[in-house]
Amino acid sequence: MPPTRPRERTPAGDRAEPEVVLAGRAFVRGRLQPVEIAIGDDGRILSVGRVRDGRARRDVGERVILPAATDLHVHFREPGGDSGAETIASGTVGAALGGVTLVGEMPNTSPPVTDVERYASKRALVEGRAAVDVLLYASPTEPRALPSLARVAGGFKLYLAPTTGIESPPPPSEVAPLLRRLAELSLPLAVHAEDPARFRAAGAPRDPAGWNVARPPEAESAAVDALFPAPDRLRLHIAHVTTAAVAEALRKRRSSFEATPHHLLLSDRSGGDARHKVNPPLRTERDRAALWEAFVRGEVPMVASDHAPHTADAKSLPFDKAPSGVPGAETMLPLLLARVRSGELGLDRLIAAACDRPARWLGQPTGRLAPGHRANLLIVDFRARSRVDGRKLASPSGWSPFEGWEVVRPQEVWKDGRPIVRDGEFVGRTDGRVVRPDYAGGSP
Ligand code: DOR
Ligand code: ZN
Repeated sequence: MPPTRPRERTPAGDRAEPEVVLAGRAFVRGRLQPVEIAIGDDGRILSVGRVRDGRARRDVGERVILPAATDLHVHFREPGGDSGAETIASGTVGAALGGVTLVGEMPNTSPPVTDVERYASKRALVEGRAAVDVLLYASPTEPRALPSLARVAGGFKLYLAPTTGIESPPPPSEVAPLLRRLAELSLPLAVHAEDPARFRAAGAPRDPAGWNVARPPEAESAAVDALFPAPDRLRLHIAHVTTAAVAEALRKRRSSFEATPHHLLLSDRSGGDARHKVNPPLRTERDRAALWEAFVRGEVPMVASDHAPHTADAKSLPFDKAPSGVPGAETMLPLLLARVRSGELGLDRLIAAACDRPARWLGQPTGRLAPGHRANLLIVDFRARSRVDGRKLASPSGWSPFEGWEVVRPQEVWKDGRPIVRDGEFVGRTDGRVVRPDYAGGSP
């Protein structure tokens, strides 16, 4: 297949012989075109373009080679969670099957990750059990633990409202001083922005529409407004933005933020029971459609799953008693690839939002087809469609709010230059790394 561009070179240049050459079509410099990707024996991309040589060559024909995704927001429920919902082992396999080779795992476990001892225990649970790389967030609620946590953790996650595992968020008066302290520590900070003072306590909500009334969009916009002006050096990121208005406000402030597949694709009328209960709530169809349009226009910088499985039993409780959260790491990219296939979403937008920007925000050399980046890649056949079947997902929770939705699953997933998923089966090892941000090096 003739390449259309001269190859780019790593500093090692011609001296490094590629271990593998992967040939196919890829989205480079604004369009889909034939490429050959040379991968070194260190699992990094050596060059993208014409390659003379390689110990092994793999041609995937008309199929498309994409960078693998980073899901910067997942909850794997260890330690202390119900293993019937998820574990680090099952969660990382689900991520891999969904085309994700790096996850950011949240600290609202039981106990929450508030000091270095708890961080070390969680890290020990990841070592030798993770199918993909894992960045572990810590909770910045113990002021004395902050400097030591900042030396080991991958990021911080701050909850401004009660949610699963979080009973008492910091009072508003403590937030600005905390942001100033966190700005000195140079780790990224993700914020769950809902202002509980704006929650409405009018009776027990009985369905997702009632939940949207109880924790309304105003609670989100008020919490976001209160974060600004944020300290200059703070790497601030707002989790799960649910409305186009908040997205626009954050865009004007040039702040990082994400939207989830459920807020982009589901509304408060998509399902009537607690399976569609999530924090922040699913919004009206009108809000959902406006957020989707903003995403399609490229005005939502990142997508993240907020993968938060609970067992089917827990989700069968009466609505007001059931926990909030939906599984989503395994379906995030496949659902959106199906939208690319149907022509509703640009492939370039999706790659930027799911692969490139989340990895950059976490300071990781992955998510781009570029020399020096990890050879974390997907092989996608856009003709191969299937449907979500909750029982077949890797998560033991065994259900999905997207049951029956059309997906395009990656046929192969490569991590560090080797296939870890083939034909929808995990074939890799459980040697995922625990990573920390590196904003200076690694990412050319
Ligand atoms: O719906 C949610 N579930 N929102 C959160 O903020 C936490 C998450 C969970 O951990 O279950
Ligand atoms: Zn979350």
